[in-house]
Amino acid sequence: MNRKNLIAGNWKMNKTASEAVDLVKEISSMVGGQSTVQVCVCPPFTSLAKVSELVEQNEIMLGAQNMSEKSAGAFTGEISAEMLRDLYVSFVILGHSERRQLFGESNSTINAKVLTAVNNNLKPIYCIGETLEEREQGRILEIVGSQVREGLDSFPIRSVEHLVIAYEPVWAIGTGKTATNEMAQEVHSEIRNILVELFGQTPASSIRILYGGSMKPENAAGLLAQPDVDGGLIGGASLTSRSFCGIVKSALELS
Ligand code: 13P
Repeated sequence: MNRKNLIAGNWKMNKTASEAVDLVKEISSMVGGQSTVQVCVCPPFTSLAKVSELVEQNEIMLGAQNMSEKSAGAFTGEISAEMLRDLYVSFVILGHSERRQLFGESNSTINAKVLTAVNNNLKPIYCIGETLEEREQGRILEIVGSQVREGLDSFPIRSVEHLVIAYEPVWAIGTGKTATNEMAQEVHSEIRNILVELFGQTPASSIRILYGGSMKPENAAGLLAQPDVDGGLIGGASLTSRSFCGIVKSALELS
């Protein structure tokens, strides 16, 4: 199955709306005019409206960093799927390790969000990954396996092609430590085996599995060349057009 690479920038809590507009303009001018590699930016909620006006005209996709599992009502501070759709948001990052660790999100709360997202035509970028301690205890597959099974419980098979998984080993996020190409491929192929168990061979082979964790132009080509690495979820290196587009260009060279 030929899966189109997706390079998504998770800006986390960075950039004002005007800074976001400037960055997206630069990204558009550098890599916007092609459709070989899918490019997505995920700015903070406060920038989505302005960036949305900008990306309408070109090939850059828009993503959000979180979303409520509820559809509307008395949930102070929350943002609904409908609100995101209204701004032409296509993707939503769910279950990022920072949300799990700092905001207490569990596999079951994330599962509710994943189902709400897909039922509202948003493509979930569902994040999973083990901590250093779990890796050292030899528990990678146990942790990642339960994140996949519990987080994707009841996921509708007809929508599987809209699902994106991001494998982000927690020890590699923002630390400068990257999984080696082989380490990434090994876990990605295990994740795909679990997806085959859940959804069957053909549907599972359409799901893109991104790598995240200190990906940068210098290491992107090796990671993206792995057969089960279908793109990247980029944190720090997505904050400048030079480094983000450097990764997109690595993906383009491989496509
Ligand atoms: P870094 O690329 O800064 O390590 O962050 C990865 C990440 O958390 C993307 O979601």
